[in-house]
Amino acid sequence: MLTCYDYSTAGLLAAAGVDLILVGDTYAEVCLGHDSTLPVTMDQMVTIAAAVRRGAPQAFIVGDMPFLSYQVSPEEAIRNAGRFITEAGCDCVKVEVDRRLAPTVEALSRAAVPVMAHLGLRPQSVRYLGGYRCQGKTAEDARRIIEDARIMEQAGAVSLLLEAVTNQVARLVTEGTDLPVIGCVSGPHCDGQVLVLHDILGFTAGHRPRAVKRYAELHKTLLDAFSRYAQDVRGRTFPSEADGISMPEPELEKLRRELHPAD
Ligand code: KIV
Repeated sequence: MLTCYDYSTAGLLAAAGVDLILVGDTYAEVCLGHDSTLPVTMDQMVTIAAAVRRGAPQAFIVGDMPFLSYQVSPEEAIRNAGRFITEAGCDCVKVEVDRRLAPTVEALSRAAVPVMAHLGLRPQSVRYLGGYRCQGKTAEDARRIIEDARIMEQAGAVSLLLEAVTNQVARLVTEGTDLPVIGCVSGPHCDGQVLVLHDILGFTAGHRPRAVKRYAELHKTLLDAFSRYAQDVRGRTFPSEADGISMPEPELEKLRRELHPAD
């Protein structure tokens, strides 16, 4: 599983055989430039999820419910989740939860909305959790996450996502459930893995998130392409006459005669 936020990239992910696409609220950070995921809206998420669906018509697509789209009430959660299904064509929605939101997960599954329950580090609760910290380091915290996973399974979640939990907790959760478990920076023991697309592609030179493997250094490739383009245009080596579109000769002749009838 990888995150994706646009039509063109979705087509590439599908062609590469990535099984699941997450239209993540990290869109707020990597595409809109915010310093957290909190400001992205339901309308923005539905718009980009629909674009991803157009780019990958056969893929399994998960729509990430943004901050305050599901926390206010189960009714609002159903209405907003429904938009991902009906307007964007998503297969499933993801919500960042702990046991207190079990009634919402239950309500969504009763409404036939497949739910992926995101446990561990929940970036939408960063103010409440006290920062972007690994979860499940103490026995007490580990037990809480393992119990939350069971509660989510009982509430009707179809899948779990564990973000930034210790390897041991990820293993215990994965071994203790029949649900598919996707790990995000949670070690090797989950059934599948997800990462943020921009992180694995190396879009930024400096920022290197821990435990994220880079599969490209796109900042170099793109900087080089943009600089060469700017150089070509400034130096007038692009576009050349051959790069443009020419008028047919008879039409050009006609135009000449109209412009200079005396010649
Ligand atoms: O929005 C997102 O990209 C996510 C991943 C970090 C799991 O939730």
